[in-house]
Amino acid sequence: MYRTHTCGELNANNIGETVSIAGWAQTIRDKGPIVWIDVRDRYGMTQIVGETGRVRDEILTTLKGIGREFVLQVTGEVVERHSKNPDIPTGDIEIVVSEIKILNGAKTPPFTIEDETDGGEELRMQYRYLDLRRNPVRKNLELRHKLSIETRKYMDSINFLEVETPYLIKSTPEGARDFVVPSRMNPGEFYALPQSPQTFKQLLMVSGYDRYYQIVKCFRDEDLRADRQPEFTQIDCEMAFVEQEDVLNTFEGLTKSLFKTILNVELDNFPRMDYVEAMEKYGSDKPDVRFGMEFKNLNSVAQNKGFNVFDSAEIVLGIVAEQAATYTRKQLDKLTDFVKRPQVGAKGMVYVKCNEDGTFKSSVDKFYSQEDLKAWADLADAKAGDLILVLSGDLDATRKQMNELRLHMGSELGLRNPADYKPLWVVDFPLLEWDEDSERYHAMHHPFTSPKAEDFDKLESAPGEVRANAYDLVINGVEIGGGSIRIHDKALQARMFDLLGFTPEEAKAQFGFLMDAFEYGAPPHGGIAFGFDRLCATLAGQESIRDFIAFPKNNSGRDVMIDAPAPIDGEQMKELFLNSTAERTEA
Ligand code: AMO
Repeated sequence: MYRTHTCGELNANNIGETVSIAGWAQTIRDKGPIVWIDVRDRYGMTQIVGETGRVRDEILTTLKGIGREFVLQVTGEVVERHSKNPDIPTGDIEIVVSEIKILNGAKTPPFTIEDETDGGEELRMQYRYLDLRRNPVRKNLELRHKLSIETRKYMDSINFLEVETPYLIKSTPEGARDFVVPSRMNPGEFYALPQSPQTFKQLLMVSGYDRYYQIVKCFRDEDLRADRQPEFTQIDCEMAFVEQEDVLNTFEGLTKSLFKTILNVELDNFPRMDYVEAMEKYGSDKPDVRFGMEFKNLNSVAQNKGFNVFDSAEIVLGIVAEQAATYTRKQLDKLTDFVKRPQVGAKGMVYVKCNEDGTFKSSVDKFYSQEDLKAWADLADAKAGDLILVLSGDLDATRKQMNELRLHMGSELGLRNPADYKPLWVVDFPLLEWDEDSERYHAMHHPFTSPKAEDFDKLESAPGEVRANAYDLVINGVEIGGGSIRIHDKALQARMFDLLGFTPEEAKAQFGFLMDAFEYGAPPHGGIAFGFDRLCATLAGQESIRDFIAFPKNNSGRDVMIDAPAPIDGEQMKELFLNSTAERTEA
């Protein structure tokens, strides 16, 4: 037997017992006649000690030869510690070593394996197995585990059936590029890895499995960011005989239950906001509503006063940063630099300080009188002591820029507390969005999303105005999940494919199986998928999903630890018919 206890469980109650533990040497303090080592495993840390006179000479010699991250097996008596460590559960005791075995040595790790490490991101990813030994990363994975267990418990309790769907499939239309897998048995043909199980879960509805869910890997070849990985996990769900409200209520229930069981946080009912309002007030379809600072349209007070920048703009937008009139020149210059960064893209920023004495100081004093600026403040609901920040230009671009500035100000003013959770449903998304490059409409969610019945008549005449039965769950500015009520009628689905520019032949080739299934009694259905990694990160109050995935990819989609992707050898290429066209024809 390697161990009687883990490194996290011994305490004063065990004093006097002879125990064995096994783990890694975290810190070693060699004070000559006495050596202490902190031994760590997944469960915690226990101090072991060897002292001349208390342990045999050869034990002391062995202890002195131990390096960081050596794997040890230690037996000894639990004794009370002289200097206790109240910060850890085992801090009252130590083990006086009576036997020690070095189970394995270790090279000096390339970074310190402690909560605060000196290892940079790239190095930590290269040696991810060492990084995973660190408490913060381990805690994230424990949270992830708990989240999946609680999700399964909850879904089971309300009759959802977990069904696995295949990974080797045909392209799914979620809007990103597919990862493809060549088929050896079918020369020149490829599987695609699922961007989501969308079509399969709809088929399951046709099959009568009216409450399906799956915690499932999805694959998308898209540009990566802190909240995006090429392979990520969804809590994917679908329900039959439901309307939008049923889906929203069911998944509001799941979300509340997860926050309660995992964080002991009681969430209020989730407000609903339609897409148009979200864009007008926050310039984003995933607004962070932990703080106000809503956009104010200043066109009526800022235009036609001779300031050409505003006069020629489609929109002049302001936000009010409360009690920020004290911002210095330097701080304001930094904000201007922020909005001018290429990632934000504004040409400049105008500010108005609403001074405590009722006067105003702006960066455009040349063009606007005190009365003019008072009108701005009144329109924007700014009070004495507040700061108004203004951007202008084309509607869409200015909204995007203002969204960035608003979030930046929210962070700067400490209004985005990660432990304050503000979920909401964003509803009534547009069905379609115009794509400039291909000069045609794309489905904003996916082509199976149903249009709102009251907008049916605009499908051909004003497709851009049609709203969809589509919704997103947003928490603290993060899109946690998205879904829709689907089309279950073959004729409407065909009309939709037509709007999206598919010929009937193309639609049949790509989605014939689904269209066919709709002819065999498809029930009304709808669903949603949560980004599981994002939910983990949000619950932990963090933005990057990478540390909630055991073995993530870097921003170029590489696994730097195993060095993938990598070339494959010629034989394998040949077997998969990936050689030159000539050879493929020959095969
Ligand atoms: P959607 O494409 O909105 O919908 O995806 C659902 C949720 O998955 C998460 N997500 C991601 N997380 C990490 N990395 C990524 N690359 C990534 N892409 C998406 C987001 C998102 O809200 N089939 C539909 C769902 C449905 O209609 O039922 C779908 O996949 O949190």
